[in-house]
Amino acid sequence: MPSPLFFLLLLSLSTLHCLTPTAAAKCHPDDEAGLLAFKSGITADPSAMLGSWKPGTDCCTWSGISCRVNNRVTTLSLYGQLDKPSSFLTGTISPSLSKLRYLDGIYFQNLRNVSGPFPSFIFLLPDMQYIYIENSKLSGPLPEAVGKLTRLGAFSVEGNRFSGKIPSSVSQLTEVTQLKLGGNLLTGAIPDGIRQLKKLTLLALDRNQLTGAIPDFFTSFANLRVLMLSHNRLSGQIPATVSALAPNLGYLELGHNSLTGQIPEFLGKFHALDTLDLSWNRFTGVVPKSFANLTKIFNLDLSHNLLTDPFPEMKVKGIESLDLSYNGFHLGTIPEWVTSSPIIYSLKLAKCGIKIKIDDWKPAETYFYDYIDLSENEISGSPVVLLNRTNYLVGFGASGNQLRFNLESLKFASTLKELDLSRNSVFGKVPKAVSGLNKLNVSHNHLCGRIPATKFPASAFVGNDCLCGSPLSPCKV
Ligand SMILES: *[C@@H]1O[C@H](CO)[C@@H](O)[C@H](O)[C@H]1NC(C)=O
Ligand SMILES: *[C@@H]1O[C@H](CO)[C@@H](O)[C@H](O)[C@H]1NC(C)=O
Ligand SMILES: *[C@@H]1O[C@H](CO)[C@@H](O)[C@H](O)[C@H]1NC(C)=O
Ligand SMILES: *[C@@H]1O[C@H](CO)[C@@H](O)[C@H](O)[C@H]1NC(C)=O
Repeated sequence: MPSPLFFLLLLSLSTLHCLTPTAAAKCHPDDEAGLLAFKSGITADPSAMLGSWKPGTDCCTWSGISCRVNNRVTTLSLYGQLDKPSSFLTGTISPSLSKLRYLDGIYFQNLRNVSGPFPSFIFLLPDMQYIYIENSKLSGPLPEAVGKLTRLGAFSVEGNRFSGKIPSSVSQLTEVTQLKLGGNLLTGAIPDGIRQLKKLTLLALDRNQLTGAIPDFFTSFANLRVLMLSHNRLSGQIPATVSALAPNLGYLELGHNSLTGQIPEFLGKFHALDTLDLSWNRFTGVVPKSFANLTKIFNLDLSHNLLTDPFPEMKVKGIESLDLSYNGFHLGTIPEWVTSSPIIYSLKLAKCGIKIKIDDWKPAETYFYDYIDLSENEISGSPVVLLNRTNYLVGFGASGNQLRFNLESLKFASTLKELDLSRNSVFGKVPKAVSGLNKLNVSHNHLCGRIPATKFPASAFVGNDCLCGSPLSPCKV
């Protein structure tokens, strides 16, 4: 039986072993050279993201690096923290990363200031499976050669400045489950070949300048859960094959396009749908009665379309955010399925033909509200009791109504940043508390007295009975 001394000896030997420089450089020299070349292509790293990348030390222990097979580098993950201004990298991606022969995943997220073209070193790495280069400043075209990366399981270059067309060769990426090209400057049509990507669970082409119709190719996507095409210039109708997504689709974003036609009846069969954004298009007609069956919908935005009455009575258990503003609705009241929601935090019903006394509106929950917009309705009374019941309100919009109350009795939640009460019958003085807001509009009311020191322009105060002082004319003493 070995003595305790033997173990002690073994322990000290192995510690010693770790300290000798030859054994410490455990990672492959090619990997170390490739990573150090990448580091030298970075000209600014104010948060020391690459601080641990030191020559002669084991590169498998550097931050952002993981090694699997034979101590070869397999993934490279660098994340900028969005809440820290200094958390970014400036520079370009060195082509020497092609030395990392076993690299199968690259995760560059929120590096913000890395620029240059699409990194072509990737084409020299046959094992590459996961590419996430998100929120940086890469630019130029997406090369046609991306189609050669047939092993890719995920491809994301979201939030860069890539321009030109989406290469038609993406049709060859048949293993991808996620294709994220959103937030670039891509133009042209959505390639029809995307229909070949049968494993997709997420397709995001939002926030580009894509034109043409949405291809009618959705029968092939049995697993699609998220479809984001918003903020483009897409036209035409919602294609019929979208109905094939009914069993699994949870998230559908088509807002800010030029889509026309009616909202299809089949959307009511999307039982897994929790988010639907069709805002800022030119949809006409009524919202299908089948929407009543969207019992799991949490976020519904149909604002800024040409939709007309009647709006269906929803059976949703609890809506979280709802925007029906600026259509042709005449709701009369705030619907009961909204008032009774225990989890609502955002309600926007501007220009929805609501004719109530706001004191009579008794929502089940007010605590979580961060936005309430009831502008351009025929709402009378005082919102003082309602706003006194909110704790996290960030914005309250009620311009163009018939509200009549003393502004000095309004409680300003510490979170409140935006208040628009223009074109009502608000009276009293402007309280000092408004100076903490980012946006204020109390124009065209019956306010009086000296305006406290604020940064707001005259147009935020004009049209009142007797307001005076900067930015309006001086008070008479
Ligand atoms: C971002 O990179 C550009 C060069 O590409 C540089 O001029 C600029 O100063 C960088 N921004 C910051 C915040 O370092
Ligand atoms: C809701 O779904 C049920 C069962 O699928 C169906 O019978 C009913 O007609 C649907 N309601 C509406 C308003 O479409
Ligand atoms: C505002 O809320 C407080 C505490 O809940 C309560 O005491 C007060 O009476 C309320 N004021 C108004 C105007 O509702
Ligand atoms: C305030 O509202 C009025 C009328 O609604 C509008 O004309 C004016 O531009 C607004 N001013 C500001 C600062 O929002």
